[in-house]
Amino acid sequence: MNQKIYSRIIGTGGYLPEKILTNLELEKLVDTSDEWIRERTGIEQRHIAAEGQTTCDLAEIASRRALDMAGVEASQIDLIIVATTTPDKIFPSTACLLQQRLAIHGCPAFDVQAVCSGFIYALSVADQFIKTGMSKCVLVVGAETLSRITNWQDRNTCVLFGDGAGAVLLQASEQPGILSTHIHADGEFEELLHVPSGPSKLPKSDDISERTMAMKGNEVFKIAVNTLSKIAIETLEANQMQKEDVDWLVPHQANLRIILATAKKLKLTDEQTVITVHKHANTSSASVPLALDEAIRDGRIQRGHTLLLEAFGGGFTWGSALIKY
Ligand code: UT7
Repeated sequence: MNQKIYSRIIGTGGYLPEKILTNLELEKLVDTSDEWIRERTGIEQRHIAAEGQTTCDLAEIASRRALDMAGVEASQIDLIIVATTTPDKIFPSTACLLQQRLAIHGCPAFDVQAVCSGFIYALSVADQFIKTGMSKCVLVVGAETLSRITNWQDRNTCVLFGDGAGAVLLQASEQPGILSTHIHADGEFEELLHVPSGPSKLPKSDDISERTMAMKGNEVFKIAVNTLSKIAIETLEANQMQKEDVDWLVPHQANLRIILATAKKLKLTDEQTVITVHKHANTSSASVPLALDEAIRDGRIQRGHTLLLEAFGGGFTWGSALIKY
């Protein structure tokens, strides 16, 4: 009988740009306050890419750190998937640009665009490639420079986002790794969270709001809380597991209130929830791999622990992954 193949995490890496933008600095840009931002979102600061520093620059550093942790040469990678909503160029994909940086040739490389759920989508795709025997060593990256599609005059959005990248190296293994992934979308909610224009749908005017993120925060908030709870249950049921079987929640970092509400429904304590939103803000597809990397590197997440990763974002898209680390 054929042995079951799992995707096992053998390395993680993260990178945040040097420049930190605090809530107090934002008070000088828009009509907001440190108190409002902390109370409503839990965010205290965010990292912002330097002028000229691109999504691929961040992705490259995170990827090299994941390779170092795994002790694997870039030449062993046989698939690259980058989740991003802020690619360097319309084309080639950021995954192809990253492949060039890593000086490897020939393996497939492509981007996945599912906004804040992008990393979970990319992880799910990578897992299918590994489980079917198509790939043996996959680099999965979530990387964003959201500061480039932020309207710095709009207090409803500019306080929420940050730049960063997180990377995970997956290897085919007979030992358990990713137990299941679950991905969903509902395009009906297009205009609750979107950028109004793009390469094909041209801006209607020169107004900055045509080219930057717009969100009906309150409506997104309610749907996010409900949807994230539902997907946690779907994930546990698919694995015949109970809430008590989960050691760590590694959630998308959009809002501390959403994170804590989800953890509470899962009966997980705040100590079992990886929280980075206060330092990183919402880095979209980078937020889950950055949180994962931090908790692995500081020793909270140990081999044998069961992790529930989950995310919700524009589209709407949402997804989860249950992982035996
Ligand atoms: O990652 C993708 C998924 N994204 C999310 O999950 C984000 C979901 N949404 C949220 O996190 C929250 O809805 C926000 C943090 C965006 C907003 O918090 P809220 O508690 O839902 O506030 P609200 O939108 O209902 O606004 C409350 C008030 C409004 O004033 P009025 O109309 O009550 O006078 C806003 O104009 O807060 C005002 N407001 C602000 N005040 C100070 C909105 N933004 C700001 C701000 N500073 N930055």
